[in-house]
Amino acid sequence: MGSATGPAPGSRVVLGVSGGIASYKALEVLRRLTESGHHVRVVPTPSALRFVGEVTWAALSGNPVRTDVWSDPEEVAHVRIGREADLVLVVPATADLMARAVHGRADDLLTATLLTATCPVVYVPAMHTEMWENPATRANVALLRERGAIVVEPAVGRLTGPDSGPGRLPEPPEIVALARAVLALGPAAARPDLVGRHVVVSAGGTREFLDPVRFLGNASSGRQGYAIARAALARGARVTVVAANVALPDPAGATVVRVTSALDLRDAVHKAAADADVVVMAAAVADFRPAARQDYKIKKGEGGGVPPPIGLERNPDVLAELVAARRPGQVLVGFAAETGGPDAGVLELGRAKLARKKADLLVVNQVGGGLGFEVEHNAAVVLGADGSATPIERTSKDLLAHRVLDLVIDRLPASAAGM
Ligand code: CTP
Repeated sequence: MGSATGPAPGSRVVLGVSGGIASYKALEVLRRLTESGHHVRVVPTPSALRFVGEVTWAALSGNPVRTDVWSDPEEVAHVRIGREADLVLVVPATADLMARAVHGRADDLLTATLLTATCPVVYVPAMHTEMWENPATRANVALLRERGAIVVEPAVGRLTGPDSGPGRLPEPPEIVALARAVLALGPAAARPDLVGRHVVVSAGGTREFLDPVRFLGNASSGRQGYAIARAALARGARVTVVAANVALPDPAGATVVRVTSALDLRDAVHKAAADADVVVMAAAVADFRPAARQDYKIKKGEGGGVPPPIGLERNPDVLAELVAARRPGQVLVGFAAETGGPDAGVLELGRAKLARKKADLLVVNQVGGGLGFEVEHNAAVVLGADGSATPIERTSKDLLAHRVLDLVIDRLPASAAGM
C-alpha cells in the first residue's frame, strides 16, 4: 500500500523525449515542471532532436543535454541520472522507444537511464492509431505495465495528419498534473497498487433543467473527483470518469463520459460500474428534478405574471442502487458534503448517511467557510462500514485523493494482478 507523503518541492524529474511530432508539446511540460520548482534533466533520444533541438531543451531546463553515453564517460551519466531521479517521465513515448525499453536495450542515454532508474516511470505515448493498436505495441505496453511502469492511455482526437483517433498526446498541463500525483505518492509509486483495476469516479454536479435554458444545479466543481481519478491513474488503474458539467480538462489517461442530469449520470455510472473494482461517487447528484420540463423558455408574463410553482420529483439514489447491485469484491465510496445542521454535527450526519447508504466508505467533508467546493485544499474524515473513522488533515485535493485510495486498497480483495 502506498502512503501519500506529498510531492517534495524540488523533486528531480528526468524528462525523456523520444522522436515523435508531439515532442514539441514536451516543451510545455518542461516549462510547467521547472516553473513549479522541479529540477528537470531532459534526455532526448537522437531522433527526438530532429524535431526539437538540443539548444532549446538545454536553455529551458537549465541543464546540459546529451543523447548518448559516450559524451562524458567519467560522469557515467545514465547511472547517475537514473539513480538520482524521483520520476522518469517520457513525453512523448513512441512505439519504438517502448519496444526498446521492453527489451532492456541500452542503445542511447534514455534507454540506458530507464534501465538504471528505480523510481516511478511514466510513459505518455503518442503515435498513429494503427501503431498504438498494433499487437506488438499492445504487448509492449502490457509488459511495461506489468513491470510497474505507468503507461498513460493516449487521448482520442486529431493526429498529425488529417486522421483522428486514439494516439494523441494528452494535454501538457494534464501530463504535469499526473506527474504531480505520482510524485505525491513518493517512491511507493514505483510499485503501482491499482494495476489491473477499473476505477469509476463520478464528479461534478448534475443539472436538472426546467426549460431549455434554466436548471437547478449545485456548486460542485468536480475538482475532488478529478483528483481521485488522477490519483488512481497514478497508481496504475484504468479509470472512467463520469463528469457532470465539469469545466476542467480531462485527466490524462482517463476515459471521460460527459453527462448533464442525475438520470444521465445514473445510466453512465451503472454502465461503467458493470466491470469496476471501485466506484467513487464524488459527484453532487441532485436529489430532485423538476416534475415537468418545458420545451420552450418559460416567460415571466406567463400565468398573468404570477411566479409559477416548481413541482419536483425524486431522483434515484445512484449510490444506493450501486450497493444493491454490487459485484463481489467491488468497493463503493460515497462523498458527503455537510454543513452540519441545527440538531446534528457533520460527523453525526455522516455516520447516519453511511448507515443508510451501506457503502464501504464515506468521505465526509465540511463545506462552507472556504472548505470544500471551488477550493484547492480540503479536509475530511473517512468513515468505514467497519466503524472506523480516519481523519485527513487539511491538505491538497491530490493528497486527500491518495489517502482515500489507501483506504480503498485496504478493502479490495487480492487480485491476480493483471493488465
Ligand atoms: N448520491 C447518489 N444519488 C443521489 C444523491 C446522492 O448517488 N441521488 C451520492 C453522492 O454522489 C454521494 C452520496 O450519495 O456520494 C451522498 O450524497 P449526499 O447528497 O450527501 O446524500 P443524500 O442522499 O442526498 O443525503 P441528504 O440529502 O440527506 O444530505
